[in-house]
Order: sequence, then structure tokens, then C-alpha cells
Amino acid sequence: MVIAVVGATGLVGNTIIQILHEKGFLENNELVLYASANRDGTQVSHFGKTYVVQELRDDTIRKDADFALFSAGSTVSLEWAKKFAKNGTFVIDNSNAFRRETNVPLVIPEINASDITKKTKIVANPNCSTIALALPLFAISKMSKISKVIVSTYQAVSGAGNQGIKDFKNGTTQKLAHPIKDNLIPHIDIFLKNGFTLEEDKMRFETSKILHNPNILVSATCVRVPVTNCHSESVSVFLETNTPISLVKKALEGQKGVTVLDDTPNNLYPMPSLANGKDEILVGRLRKDMSCPNLFHMFISMDNIRKGAALNAVQIMEYVMQNILK
Ligand SMILES: NC(=O)c1ccc[n+]([C@@H]2O[C@H](COP(=O)([O-])OP(=O)(O)OC[C@H]3O[C@@H](n4cnc5c(N)ncnc54)[C@H](OP(=O)(O)O)[C@@H]3O)[C@@H](O)[C@H]2O)c1
Repeated sequence: MVIAVVGATGLVGNTIIQILHEKGFLENNELVLYASANRDGTQVSHFGKTYVVQELRDDTIRKDADFALFSAGSTVSLEWAKKFAKNGTFVIDNSNAFRRETNVPLVIPEINASDITKKTKIVANPNCSTIALALPLFAISKMSKISKVIVSTYQAVSGAGNQGIKDFKNGTTQKLAHPIKDNLIPHIDIFLKNGFTLEEDKMRFETSKILHNPNILVSATCVRVPVTNCHSESVSVFLETNTPISLVKKALEGQKGVTVLDDTPNNLYPMPSLANGKDEILVGRLRKDMSCPNLFHMFISMDNIRKGAALNAVQIMEYVMQNILK
């Protein structure tokens, strides 16, 4: 099998390679790495093997690639993903390029892998903040209908890629709108006419598409925080019925991909430092609202580069190998 990684020198691309290695996919398969023209011909080492990074051009596209995992931003995906797909390569895209296209499944494998069919050529990976929210909500929705969700995010600088981390470390503002040191920036992606940012609208639209629920109302406020890696979210969930918090906890505990960390007497709850490098979405601080019986609150932390991007993409690839291309 030939696996192409587009954006192979980025934070997500590097972690895709790491996870392919962890899952044994680098043993018998060929890995082909693409990045921008700046990296053309540079050598990189991964797990004792040397690879030559190529610029993505018509003459460098591997026509025999089985999978192409894109993590180079929407512009690159819009220009190149369909060219790979035309050659019969199965494309998994981490960018925002195709998430709203009706014929492109938007997939968190634990929830809706079955949206992928034999006709699917491109699968979109959801936004990282959406993944952290949608999987716990999916678990809860199996127990009680959700009517409304209000979420505030605390998003790490790694969410803005390599340059986001550099801005944090160097005090620069090449990617971020303001210095992030000693600061919080309530501005991720562009502002829309309605006052929300695109990041906030992604959480609204994508949660509904993934859960196949046009009635679920998500209102988000997305904030960049001075944390290197792992996004966190404070979430308030309105259920249609008055549900004991013990049942909410049980539903979350039974969900693959979620770990409940809610031992407040021992000061244990989700934090970026605990989520870093983990595959699971950590959920805790579960509590019922004091004034509204159908409302409860929770706090989430998740490694945005792993489950928020690279791991989810590789899990989609595994599903396709086992169920679609077999
Ligand atoms: N970071 C996250 O938490 C996260 C989560 C979910 C989804 N995503 C999405 O994943 C994608 C990558 O994010 P990232 O954080 O890994 O960004 P990043 O660290 O900035 O990496 C970007 C990658 O894209 C490559 N690239 C840039 N222009 C290119 C071109 N014209 N042709 C081919 N490759 C090109 C870069 O190569 P060079 O080294 O040559 O510049 C680099 O490998 C984005 O679409 C982002 O929205 C990111």
C-alpha cells in the first residue's frame, strides 16, 4: 500500500506519521511525503528511515497512492485533493475545504463511520474543537435528547500550527492577532457578519452534521489561550428531560474514546497537561445546574493534534481499509 501525507512537515502531518508508526502501518507500506516548495528535496528521518519530502506538483503526484492524508490547509486541499481522488486515491482531509459538502462525509469513527460508502472518494475530518465536543455529546444523546449546548473553548496555540507555537514562544504575531503571553484571544479564524467567528460556526454546523441532528443548537465562544498543546472546553448541556448526573456519567463512561476523570476530592479533572499525548477525550467536573433541572455542565480536555486531527484521520483510514476497500 502507498500512503501519501500532504503537509508532512506540519504539526498534524508529523503526528500522522507518528501514529502510522504506532499502529504498524509503516512496516510494510510505502510512505510518500509532501510539503510546500520550500521543502522540496529535503530529507527527514522518521523511526530510523530517511524520506525525501516533495513539493506537491502534477509531476510528483503518486498516481498509485491508496490513501492521501491531507493536513496542509484548505487552499492546498481545494487545489489537490480532487486530483488524488480522480486517480482512485482515497482522500482524508483535515482542512475545512469539504466539510460542508453534502456528498462528503464528516466523520468521527466512533459516531458515524457508516456515513462512508463504496462511492465515497473524500472524507472530511472535523474541526478539532468539534471532535472534543461531539463525541461526549453523542454518548449523552443515546440516553437523553439534547436541545441546546453552550460551549466556551480554551484552545492551545498548537491549534494554529507550527507558527502558532512560534508566536507563543517568541512573542511574535505572525499567526495570532495579538501577543498570547499573559493573554486570552477570543478570536479564532475569521469573523463572520453575524458576529461569530468561523471557528465558532464550525462547531455549530459540524456537530449537527456528525450527529445527524439538525435540531441540536450549539452556541460557541472560541478562545485562544497560552497553552502549548491540548484544547479544553467548558460545556453547558440542556437536555429534554430531567436526568440524574449519575446517568450522564454512566453514558460517558460507556463511550469508546472518552475517559471520565471526575474525582474532585483528589483534585482530579481534565486538564491540558493530562490530555497531552493521550488518545482519549477527558471529561469531568460533571455537575447539575443549581437552578435549571434539565441543565448540566462539564469540562473537557483533548489532545487537538492527536484525536482532534491526526488520530481521527488514521482511524478513518483504518475503517476504510477494513470495511470499504476490503
Ligand atoms: N493544529 C491543529 O490542532 C489542527 C487540528 C485539526 C485540523 N487541523 C488542520 O490541519 C491542517 C494542518 O495544520 P497544522 O497545525 O499541521 O499546520 P502547520 O504546522 O502549519 O503545517 C502545515 C503543513 O502544510 C504544508 N504546506 C503549506 N503550504 C503547502 C503547499 N502549498 N503545498 C503542500 N504543503 C503545504 C507545510 O509545509 P512547509 O513545511 O513546507 O511549510 C506543513 O507541512 C490545517 O488545515 C488545519 O486547519 C489542524
